[in-house]
Amino acid sequence: LSPSPRPQMEEGVRPAPCRAKGGAPGFKVAVLGAAGGIGQPLSLLMKLNPLVSVLHLYDVVNTPGVTADVSHMDTTAVVRGFLGPNQLEAALTGMDLVIIPAGLPRKPGMTRDDLFNKNAGIVRSLCEGVAKCCPNAIVNLISNPVNSTVPIAAEVFKKAGTYDPKRLLGVTTLDVARANTFVAEVLGIDPKDVNVPVVGGHAGVTILPLLSQVHPPCSFTPDEISYLTKRIQNGGTEVVEAKAGAGSATLSMAFAAAKFGDACLRAMRGDAGVVECSYVASAVTELPFFATKVRLGRAGAEEVLPLGPLNDFERAGLEMAKKELMESIQKGIDFMNKSG
Ligand code: NAD
Ligand code: LMR
Repeated sequence: LSPSPRPQMEEGVRPAPCRAKGGAPGFKVAVLGAAGGIGQPLSLLMKLNPLVSVLHLYDVVNTPGVTADVSHMDTTAVVRGFLGPNQLEAALTGMDLVIIPAGLPRKPGMTRDDLFNKNAGIVRSLCEGVAKCCPNAIVNLISNPVNSTVPIAAEVFKKAGTYDPKRLLGVTTLDVARANTFVAEVLGIDPKDVNVPVVGGHAGVTILPLLSQVHPPCSFTPDEISYLTKRIQNGGTEVVEAKAGAGSATLSMAFAAAKFGDACLRAMRGDAGVVECSYVASAVTELPFFATKVRLGRAGAEEVLPLGPLNDFERAGLEMAKKELMESIQKGIDFMNKSG
């Protein structure tokens, strides 16, 4: 390589533009778990997002390689890599949005709850970092079991005195993406024209698609309702089994997380009418956390929208979902109480 005629800057010191393309504000985004199956394609997709001015990639392994690779994409965001717990604070300082796909994925035969013992501690330590270094950031939590990791994150933030329920969002966008895809297949239309609200949580029967509220309005036979509900609830397991031990959904999840992250950024910029399903602190049911449609704004989940009218099948599903969700939420809270 011939020497550059200009003084060479150290890696990662290129000054970040304070404005992204078109004069719009640029946001600082961190991906924690950036070298993983979700983390890598998610980092690529966030590097493509014109609303991102700075992209911090953090993991306990392999971030130098992922960072060098992603940083060569000629898009606006400045990419910086951070490796290991000693660099977590630098990775998080000044961030506006923190996306967390760190943690173990399932293998065939496992439930998401089987990941609790390993992932609860990972989420706790990463959220402690968020509380310390970027307490005002919006957090998008992907690590499973989401039904428990979101309550864990809430307890960490409460303990640190930084908890704002609006800023903590469990990512359930993949359930909506799957529901839109499978419903579109049944209806014979383009998935981009379909919107299926999926409420409850993110595991088994807690994933409750509201097929009576599909947009565009349509109706299904009882067989179609049974097929669609099972396939949507089982979507994650379908991928885990197909990957046969090589992990769980990564590409569709990166797509879903990038879509949800982009919705958060657009809302943070001030766009009106940004509505997505998400697992958040909620008064929609008697449970402290529940996924429904949420109106996103500058401060995060600014309005948790009601469930809307349910049919008998959905009401029965809601009762099953609430029972399992309550246990998963309590498990997360107990973990934090025990760990002092
Ligand atoms: P993966 O094993 O490929 O990647 C996980 C990454 O996390 C690895 O690079 C690992 O080094 C990193 N990591 C581990 N401990 C860390 C720590 N303390 N700090 C930072 N990084 C750490 O797994 P994956 O396929 O990317 O899945 C990640 C998580 O996302 C899993 O828990 C999985 O179940 C979950 N997931 C959730 C959804 C959802 O819809 N919410 C969908 C798919 C997967
Ligand atoms: C998914 O829904 O794909 C994820 O929660 C990963 C999994 O374990 O199924």
